[in-house]
Amino acid sequence: MNPTITSHATPATAAPGVLVILGASGDLTKRLLVPALYNLACDGLLPEGFAVVGMARRPLSSEEFRGQLGRDLRTFTTRREFDADRWEWLESRIHYVSGDFADGAAYRRLADKVREVGVESGAAGNTLLYLAISPELFEAVNGHLDEAGFTRFDGRRAIVVEKPFGKDLDSAIALNRALLARWREEEIYRIDHYLGKETVQNLLAFRMANGIFAPLWNADHIDHIQISAAETVGVETRGEYYDKTGVVRDMLQNHLLQMLAYVCMEPPESLDPNAVRDAKSRLLAAVRPLDRSAVERECVRGQYGPGRKADGGVAVGYREEPKVDPRSDTETYAALTLHLDNDRWRGMPVYLRSGKSLWKRGTEIVVEFKPGATGPAMGEPNRLIFHIQPTQGVEIRMQAKRPGPVFSLQPAGMRFDYAETFEASRGTGYEVLLYSGLNGDPTLFSRTDFVETAWRIVQPALDVWRTTPADDFPNYPAGSWGPRAAHELLERSGHLWHECLTRDVLARGPLFRAAPPLLLANLLLAFRPLAVAAGDVVITRGAVEDEMYFVCSGRLAVGDAADRSVGEIGAGEFCGEMALLYRQPRSATVRAVEPSDLLVLDGTAFRRILADFPGFEAELRRISAVRSERSAGVSRGIPG
Ligand code: BG6
Repeated sequence: MNPTITSHATPATAAPGVLVILGASGDLTKRLLVPALYNLACDGLLPEGFAVVGMARRPLSSEEFRGQLGRDLRTFTTRREFDADRWEWLESRIHYVSGDFADGAAYRRLADKVREVGVESGAAGNTLLYLAISPELFEAVNGHLDEAGFTRFDGRRAIVVEKPFGKDLDSAIALNRALLARWREEEIYRIDHYLGKETVQNLLAFRMANGIFAPLWNADHIDHIQISAAETVGVETRGEYYDKTGVVRDMLQNHLLQMLAYVCMEPPESLDPNAVRDAKSRLLAAVRPLDRSAVERECVRGQYGPGRKADGGVAVGYREEPKVDPRSDTETYAALTLHLDNDRWRGMPVYLRSGKSLWKRGTEIVVEFKPGATGPAMGEPNRLIFHIQPTQGVEIRMQAKRPGPVFSLQPAGMRFDYAETFEASRGTGYEVLLYSGLNGDPTLFSRTDFVETAWRIVQPALDVWRTTPADDFPNYPAGSWGPRAAHELLERSGHLWHECLTRDVLARGPLFRAAPPLLLANLLLAFRPLAVAAGDVVITRGAVEDEMYFVCSGRLAVGDAADRSVGEIGAGEFCGEMALLYRQPRSATVRAVEPSDLLVLDGTAFRRILADFPGFEAELRRISAVRSERSAGVSRGIPG
């Protein structure tokens, strides 16, 4: 099995064609489609024979439409410099037809315009119809397009359907039927914008082109896989859409299952679109169906309550967001365990999680190897981490010998960083989707079987949750790592969510703001995540323990000998350092006042880091001294 991967340095321009955008005055067009077309034009990837025809309700002339797009492009372009010549080139190819989506005559006018523009611009014979419209209109618009003759246009033609593709399994099947009644499967391009991300496409490249991992890519060597997509944003202005949707429909059914398919599918026979899509669909079909008890045992839902934004500002809870039902049970967070019943993966769990209003933005795939899979079991297991966004790269976590005469180990990382390796301007992710669409290449679009199988996987969770009230909602504060139950889900199988820390997240804590990069790099690898519930004791007065704690989110209360609260420790602060610095028993008890997310530094790593970074030790000692003085007046102080 050795699929051919082309290594051409300069890709050819896309095939000539007319792109028809239905919903051309909407957000998607101005934020993503036009900036993506402009990027393709700047990179010389659009052919001379290219035209865009937009249709929307607003009565505009083509001139006015171009002017509006030009102004919006200056706001939404992903390029630093504006290339007026390239925009002029693109703009001259843009046309507009105004019409109501319910009016059959409007589609006939559109069809005439597309024919006329196609002939004039040399783009005839290839028509890509993009539904940038509200999903409720998909079926009706599809019918009108057929009646106006688009399904019988000369040459190649295709319809691009944005997500959400259905709101559940039944509606997705119905939508597929409606589309397939008028188009052939290979003419239907269902968009999942994650497939436009370089780092998601790189999952395929990584597996296909780097044979060293192939022998390890199975349940004999891999302990488990975690796929996480965390967002710091809440639902903001999208309450109306989101409250009917929730994170399972919005993120898991599509984006996360696409990533799962790329990571776990059998290597396709070739890079032929059908071979890749067959392999992905077969993988999804191997996911063990969830039944009610699996949903109750292995799926966790969450909804954010009031808390903190990533920048420290106050964040409202989901139920207080505009256009959200104040009693809403919609989940803004979900974590699922899936099992793959095929020869390669039998017995190995895959954990998926995604949520809004979390502590950091980050999509990562962590492949955790079994201890000893690649050598004698020493220290932490090896991990292969795909950083999808915003950090983009691939990293291998391993153990390395520390410099010096003593044989001791330290976690280390080996990284490939996109930004350090490639000179590429940041795109919108839609460039490759439009380019593939014009070229008639469906590889990056979802096929009927994939979409329906993906719905089949998540539908039981949606069904169980719809009929069971979420009594504990809201169950995680905005700005945290998510609900405690999601951590317990992994702990039950002896696992931990791997929280990929980044320097910016650490730099939110005053102690680390000015820390040298090497110290931060050491800390990033040394921290262990610990999520605690309200009331949990983190430190017990008098105990001899060997850890210190950094508070990522939440609040801890410090109690004196009589268990009276004598102070609080909040996000960005730390505790437990004195016992380590002065090798003494804990001087106070510390309890979580609310659900809190902590980063734990073990004594061994603590001592190693202090020995390597004397400046850090001096700063910790200075802060501890100030703290003990401050607290001495009140009682016997901040815990150590
Ligand atoms: C969209 C969802 O599909 O993906 C949004 O509707 C979500 O709710 C977005 O924020 C995430 O995309 P990205 O590219 O920012 O990870």
